[in-house]
Formats: sequence, structure tokens, C-alpha cells
Amino acid sequence: MPEKKKILVTRRLPDAVSERARASYDAILNIDDDPYDSDRMITLLDGMDGLLCTITNDLSRGVIERLPESVRAIATFSVGFEHIDLEAARERAIIVSNTPGVLIDATADVALLLMLGASRRAREGALMIDAGWSGWTPTQLMGIQMTGKRLGILGMGDIGRAVAMRARSFGMEIHYYNRRRLSAEVEQGAIYHKTMEDLLSVSDFLSLHCPLTPETKHILNEERIALLPENPVVINTARGPVVDDKALITALKSGRVAAAGLDVFEGEPRLNTDYLDCPNAFLLPHLGSATVETRNAMGFTALDNLDAFFAGSEPPNRIA
Ligand code: DGY
Repeated sequence: MPEKKKILVTRRLPDAVSERARASYDAILNIDDDPYDSDRMITLLDGMDGLLCTITNDLSRGVIERLPESVRAIATFSVGFEHIDLEAARERAIIVSNTPGVLIDATADVALLLMLGASRRAREGALMIDAGWSGWTPTQLMGIQMTGKRLGILGMGDIGRAVAMRARSFGMEIHYYNRRRLSAEVEQGAIYHKTMEDLLSVSDFLSLHCPLTPETKHILNEERIALLPENPVVINTARGPVVDDKALITALKSGRVAAAGLDVFEGEPRLNTDYLDCPNAFLLPHLGSATVETRNAMGFTALDNLDAFFAGSEPPNRIA
């Protein structure tokens, strides 16, 4: 039997994934889920062939340049890869892969959860119960109904389209902006806007689904918030830094934005604490992909990529 390849798994993964990693590899598993800093990760990688990392690991250029020579492949347990400097990995001839395709439904579900939670004032309702509810009244916590509203989707990729599909069943009218227009078959009646500004002006609900790049950082800023119709609801399941927190918090406090549903935050887990003073902000701790089914699928996909690489084939989800 050939010797098993050695891999470091930086976080505790679902049991089924850890078992497969243990069976296929000489694996260092992080059963205690100790969030390694870069120095610790680099030390543990000494003599390892591969790294199975997550979005909580910093793999910027400085870190990649310090990885031991033995490391040939990085598989991230995520679809997003802004934590990895792909160019630096290419320069070191380290193969990088991600996990696209398997977290579309789970993330789209959370976008709908946020739309409902924000528009129907779920956070305020839960706080009211905790504080000792004094009873039903005709005007208590009146929210915004989703039926008949225009949903603007910024970034009509797989997740954006899965959100559109769900939102249609709530009777919403779907609008979108994307780098390129989709075919009529894929659009399914969604209305394309040639500019982001045009989309914003019709977005009673705005759901962000663009990747984080230098171009999309703070894409939702004060000027763009000003373009939204009255009483808009803003949803973010993409990446925290696509929103300018200061601008959104100001708009939530003044009522310019009626409510926001946020699953991701700039600098998470240290989110801007001013959000906590906004009862109209419905906040979740980056739960988009957090179902057993999806987290298993993400782990198996990451392992599939490593398996392919170490078997001498092209990893199916290679990104560098
Ligand atoms: C990803 O995969 O990029 C998610 O944000 C983690 O669920």
C-alpha cells in the first residue's frame, strides 16, 4: 500500500467528513476546533502535503510565502476564496480548490429567512417575548409584507437565482443586475437592469449576491442607499465588506432603510456593535451554509478535490 498523504485540517469538520479524511489521509484533525493563527498553522504544516482550510484562515501572500515546501495543495471548505491569495499560490505552484455548487440552496434559504425576519420584525418580536409580552394589539410590530414587492437581486449567479425562485412563491416581482444579462430561459421572467443604480431604484427588497472583490467592497454605500425606494429592506448573505456598515447603520437608525437582514459582517466575528442598537437589524452569525447536509457536502467536495490532486488528476473545483 502506498503511504497515505499527509494533510492538515484547520477546523473541526462534521463527523462524517472527519472520518473520511482520517480514512484516506494521514490527517491532523482539529477536534478541539482551536482557531489556529497563521504561525500555528504554518508550524503544523511542517512535512504536510496538503491543507484543508476554511474562511477563518488567513492565506494572504505573506502566509503563502511562508508555507513549508512540502505543501502542494490547498482545498478550502468554502465557495468564497477571498482569504486566499491565488496569485501567490500560483507562484509557489500550489494548487487551490473551493466548494462551489453545494451551498446554493442552504444559502438561498437563509436569504429568505433574513427577508422574513427583517421585514416582519422578528428580532423585536423575540425581544418582546423575552421581556414579558403584555398581549396582542392591532398595531403591534406591524411589518412589511413581501407579497407584491419588487426584489432586486444584485448578482444573479446560482445563489441569486435560487433566491429568485423562492421569492417568486412569495408573490414578489424579480429584478436583477448582473455583469451580463441571462438568457430568457434562465431569467424566468426576472427583469434585467442595465445598471446597478437602475436596479436600486426599484428594489423594495435588495438582496446582495456578489462576490467580494476590490470592485464590490462597500458597493452598498451612502450614495447607493439614497437611490433605494422608500422603506426598503436590505439583505446580505454574500460577504460583509460589500456593505458600508456606517452608511447602513445610519440609514437604519434614521428609518431611511426600514430593516436589514444580515448574515455576514465586515471584520466578522467582530461586527460593528452599532448594529446591536438597531432593533430593525435582524442579524445571524454567518449561517448561510450551516445545515448538516450542506456542511457534509462542502467537506466531501474539499476532499474530492484533494483526492483528485493526489491521484494525479485535475481537482474538479480548481481555482488556481
Ligand atoms: C462560503 O462557502 O464561502 C461560505 O461563506 C461559508 O459558508
